Amino acid sequence: MTERLIELRDITKSYGNVYALGGVNLHVDKGEVVGLLGDNGAGKSTLIKILAGAVKPTDGEILVRGKSVTGWNAARSREAGIETVFQDRALAVQQSIVRNIFMGNEQGNRLGFLNLKHEIAEAGRLMREIGFTSKVFTPNSIVGQLSGGERQGVAIARAIYKQADLIILDEPTTALSLTETAKVFHFVRQVRASGRSILFIGHNIHHVYDIADRFVVMDRGKVAMQISRDKVKTAEELIWFMEQIAHPEHKSQNAKEPALKRKAGKL
Ligand SMILES: Nc1ncnc2c1ncn2[C@@H]1O[C@H](COP(=O)(O)OP(=O)(O)OP(=O)(O)O)[C@@H](O)[C@H]1O
Ligand SMILES: [Mg+2]
Repeated sequence: MTERLIELRDITKSYGNVYALGGVNLHVDKGEVVGLLGDNGAGKSTLIKILAGAVKPTDGEILVRGKSVTGWNAARSREAGIETVFQDRALAVQQSIVRNIFMGNEQGNRLGFLNLKHEIAEAGRLMREIGFTSKVFTPNSIVGQLSGGERQGVAIARAIYKQADLIILDEPTTALSLTETAKVFHFVRQVRASGRSILFIGHNIHHVYDIADRFVVMDRGKVAMQISRDKVKTAEELIWFMEQIAHPEHKSQNAKEPALKRKAGKL
């Protein structure tokens, strides 16, 4: 049985009379990587800000492990085990890996030296857990020396240290080369293997296709389509589905279309 970690029901968010979200239903199960896709302005960032408790929904319900949570805010989101890695903003590049992982979570200083030893050991363990394979870096290495993909890894390690069950990655591969993207994917797979869940927001459909178990496509504040990875054969097919949503008036004459539509389960 899959365990439903988090579920959003009919979430709306209006700014004045503009609806950033017009009734979103979304869930993430335990051990699942969900890819969140959609054009600029589709509502992806608004949705993750709501999940993080940084923005209050106008209406709707949030359930954690099947139980409705009232008064959703940043503290409730943390209690639910949700950690968000916002791109590039998360790390102090002049500080070490270990300082970045424990930033804001330092334990009392009474046993400062022992704590430091403990933190270095723990940082090393976390780096191994997410699959940091480079021998060049130790927990004392400065984050500024790491590549983009490795920096994402440090941010992910920090989220794991905070005991996250759901890690939200906001465009983690947008500025990265292929090699660096592969590193991030490696980290994400390690996280999934440990039973945690990932919500992966991306612009690059090929990236999201390669990493996600299920795709959720947003369009103008709504979930326009959800489809699991095993129902899509290629990234091109996923792109084709998305084009149908964006331009329904230009339906192609593709003979496969009815079957594909059925598979996509348009919402
Ligand atoms: N604070 C705000 N005040 C007013 N409107 C907002 C605010 N935040 C978002 N919006 C509007 O809500 C809609 C959804 O924005 P959002 O940032 O969630 O989209 P997005 O999918 O993250 O887009 P992108 O891919 O460009 O990051 C947009 O029309 C945006 O202008
Ligand atoms: Mg955004």
